Amino acid sequence: MKADVLVVGSGIAGCAAALAAAREGADVLVVTKATEPEDAASDWAQGGIAVTQSAPEEFAADIRRASDGTADPEAVETLVSESRAVVEDVLLDTLEVEFDAVGDGTDAADFDLAREAGHSSRRILHVDASTGAHVLRPFLQHLSARDGVRIVEDATALDLLTEEGTVRGATVLADGEVEPVFAGATVLATGGIGDCYARSTNPAGATGDGVAMAALAGATVSDMQYVQFHPTAYDPRTDQRADDDAQPFLVSEAVRGEGAVLRDADGHRFMPDVHEDAELAPRDVVARAVSRARDRTGRVVLDVSDLDFREEFPDLAALCDDRGVDLDAGIPVAPSEHFLCGGVAVDDRGRTSLSRLFAAGECARTGVHGANRLASTSLLEGLVWGVRAGETAAERGRGEAETVEYAPPRDSDPALPDAFADTKFDRLGRTMDEFVGIERTPDGLGTARARLRRLKGEVDAYARTRVSRSIYELRNACVSSLLVARAAADAPSAGCHSLVDSDGSEGSEGSKEDEQGDDAEQGVTPSADD
Ligand code: SIN
Repeated sequence: MKADVLVVGSGIAGCAAALAAAREGADVLVVTKATEPEDAASDWAQGGIAVTQSAPEEFAADIRRASDGTADPEAVETLVSESRAVVEDVLLDTLEVEFDAVGDGTDAADFDLAREAGHSSRRILHVDASTGAHVLRPFLQHLSARDGVRIVEDATALDLLTEEGTVRGATVLADGEVEPVFAGATVLATGGIGDCYARSTNPAGATGDGVAMAALAGATVSDMQYVQFHPTAYDPRTDQRADDDAQPFLVSEAVRGEGAVLRDADGHRFMPDVHEDAELAPRDVVARAVSRARDRTGRVVLDVSDLDFREEFPDLAALCDDRGVDLDAGIPVAPSEHFLCGGVAVDDRGRTSLSRLFAAGECARTGVHGANRLASTSLLEGLVWGVRAGETAAERGRGEAETVEYAPPRDSDPALPDAFADTKFDRLGRTMDEFVGIERTPDGLGTARARLRRLKGEVDAYARTRVSRSIYELRNACVSSLLVARAAADAPSAGCHSLVDSDGSEGSEGSKEDEQGDDAEQGVTPSADD
């Protein structure tokens, strides 16, 4: 297959890139693992889309403050200054998304703007607490009906095709066959790394594919230590009424924005002791405080008694009812992996360090989030950088798809049992949760790196002679996890990367690698280099 622009991924960033490239007259091919909209994290986004209101400089200041002062000011300026125009053009005029409004919704002034942690004012467009689904589904429908865009679902991009440092497309597994897709430009929009952790707010399939494919092709990847944990995911483990198989779900920051408070197992509201903005402090601060309060007292609940929760958040109330949560007792919550702030390094047009390769959305590191992302800026970033990457990829790729030589992967050994990937992901998730979570120690990171290298070595050995979605997802998750652990070991604390000494006190020394690791893990295939 050939295309002017190949887009890998079908969340908001991939859709925006496809739309923008098609508008520029490019022939666009979207390749996605998804078979349903909810396979993309964008579809799960609850809070909404922050948009500049009357004071852009305040929005920019909030982003920088949330980032612990590390966000790139030029990237922030791009995001803030383009937010209104891109939302109006794509979401309102093209897709006709009906955001919650207080009036008839025909004027931006009528929108029912929400507030979330870290925002100094109300500026978030939303549809209940299910904004992502109300944006992504019409987006996919629009693209499916649009000339110049082909969407191939249930298709796994395996590796980038490169020729002397230039990216020429990717190999893709679809219908059991590996095919090369030659493209004039390639846009990675593959989302985050939720599957690297045992507990995440992401849908299954968030295996760091774009980050790993780009890194393996030699692209620059940065800020991988900044993995954001959302402070309030429903926690069935501390809910006595939960069934054994009850699943966690995100409880949007918008709930705290409307007045919900956090209490420990003794009923104490602890956030005012931690930060002057209490429950509306930046997300990394709240996540660490919730984690510590849970360690100290065993349980944290989100007390929603001061708001009309059922009226204001009907979709979240329905999820709570489904799990049998006793709302009068508060919603049991725990931090959960949520968003990768780092990723494939890109410039203001989504260009990576490799020729003809672009990235947008969660897999890209634009510099907007620095060390910690401000709430409800991820859909916006996906939209702004998706459009910019798509436009630039179209300019670069139109009429430029070239066939290049490539070595198809070997698929000679019998397929592995289904349980194989589950077992390895389980090991990966336990390692990342235990040693590369909210608070990290140098020794813990050393242990994690040694274990991850061994795991990657095993997976690489299997991947040499087998091709399947799960093997490549495992490989990608191992590569991404190693990049996180290595970056975390080398970087001082900032934002959502918190390096502490083993006793929990602040510390910033590099890690000492645990080359011995766990005895049970000795004797496996030699590890690959991280
Ligand atoms: C939330 O609704 O709390 C999540 C919003 C976000 O991740 O930006």
